[in-house]
Amino acid sequence: MSDPGLESPPYTEGEVLLSVRNLRTRFVTEGGDVPAVNGVSFAVRRGEVLSVVGESGSGKSVTAMSILGLLPPTARIEADQMLWRGESLLDAGEARIRQVRGAEIAMIFQDPLSALNPMHKVGRQIAEMILIHEPVSKKEAASRAVEMLNLVGIPQPAKRAGMYPHEFSGGMRQRAMIAMAIACSPDLLIADEPTTALDVTVQAQVLEMLLRLKDELNSALMLITHDLGVVAGISDRVMVMYAGRQVEVGTTDQVFYRTRHPYTRSLLRSLPRLDDRGTDALTPITGAPPSLLRLPSGCSFHPRCPLVKERCSKDVPDLNSGGLGHHPAACFYADEVSGDTASVVGGRS
Ligand SMILES: Nc1ncnc2c1ncn2[C@@H]1O[C@H](COP(=O)(O)OP(=O)(O)OP(=O)(O)O)[C@@H](O)[C@H]1O
Ligand code: SF4
Ligand SMILES: [Mg+2]
Repeated sequence: MSDPGLESPPYTEGEVLLSVRNLRTRFVTEGGDVPAVNGVSFAVRRGEVLSVVGESGSGKSVTAMSILGLLPPTARIEADQMLWRGESLLDAGEARIRQVRGAEIAMIFQDPLSALNPMHKVGRQIAEMILIHEPVSKKEAASRAVEMLNLVGIPQPAKRAGMYPHEFSGGMRQRAMIAMAIACSPDLLIADEPTTALDVTVQAQVLEMLLRLKDELNSALMLITHDLGVVAGISDRVMVMYAGRQVEVGTTDQVFYRTRHPYTRSLLRSLPRLDDRGTDALTPITGAPPSLLRLPSGCSFHPRCPLVKERCSKDVPDLNSGGLGHHPAACFYADEVSGDTASVVGGRS
């Protein structure tokens, strides 16, 4: 098992849409090279929801943006493989990447205002997205834009299409951005913290809608979030990242109920529990993620790890270090991580 994040096990049967092997992305800065993503491998299959979870700065967004060619020129992206439906994105030219981005892989960002132009009517922006990628008339594109607004649950979509982004509420703007992202029926939707700025009720509605759209478009969803609580009920698989590396990869049940990495366990313990009767305070994770310019030796989680032992500051664990016969976890002592986290809010039923 050379590449567990990518290969094992084949949890879903769907067509492999995206396959990334050993992605390494660093930024060249005056202070030195910042290794933002360090050896990440994964695959996304049609029909599934893959969630990418980790604290701020763990490399979640950089992973997505490396795939879509959205990083600044200071970024150096290397990978053993980056295949989109069998085609190498590493060898694709800028024009082809632009075509993939939007029409085949669409990205939804946390801040809808970064994607919507305040000067143009919402319907027109969606129609333009369609016109860039598809040989349809302006009239057809305009009516498709209204259809998309309807699909994402915006009431009176024909009227709303003629409005400007500032005339929409926060939740509606988020929906409008999603409508733009799905306008060309992409095979993969990458949603980067799509609900962080929204209140809890709207959050749930937007997540529900993303799942419904995934099914209607027969696509896949890669959901990026710092909140493990959000992913529990909706993901097929979860990939946990820490300081630019994958530390645990498994089905949602494996990651939540048979947790094998102390970092995942700390994330879970900091969530509210279903059996919480108000007597136990939540346990926040102690310390802060390390600076990528000065990563700790050995396991980069060791200064914060409750299970730390002598070996941890010397050797670097990889996803195979947790031992065979289990889902992948980058910890030498994965067997000692107890899994009493089954009652965490939102666990998959
Ligand atoms: N243009 C850049 N130049 C230098 N470093 C960068 C650049 N962009 C990102 N980084 C660094 O790369 C690391 C990973 O960033 P990334 O945005 O992927 O984190 P994240 O997991 O998405 O966090 P968040 O939850 O805050 O969005 C961070 O330490 C960040 O400071
Ligand atoms: S390898 Fe050591 S420091 Fe790292 S997570 Fe496992 S026990 Fe903790
Ligand atoms: Mg991010």
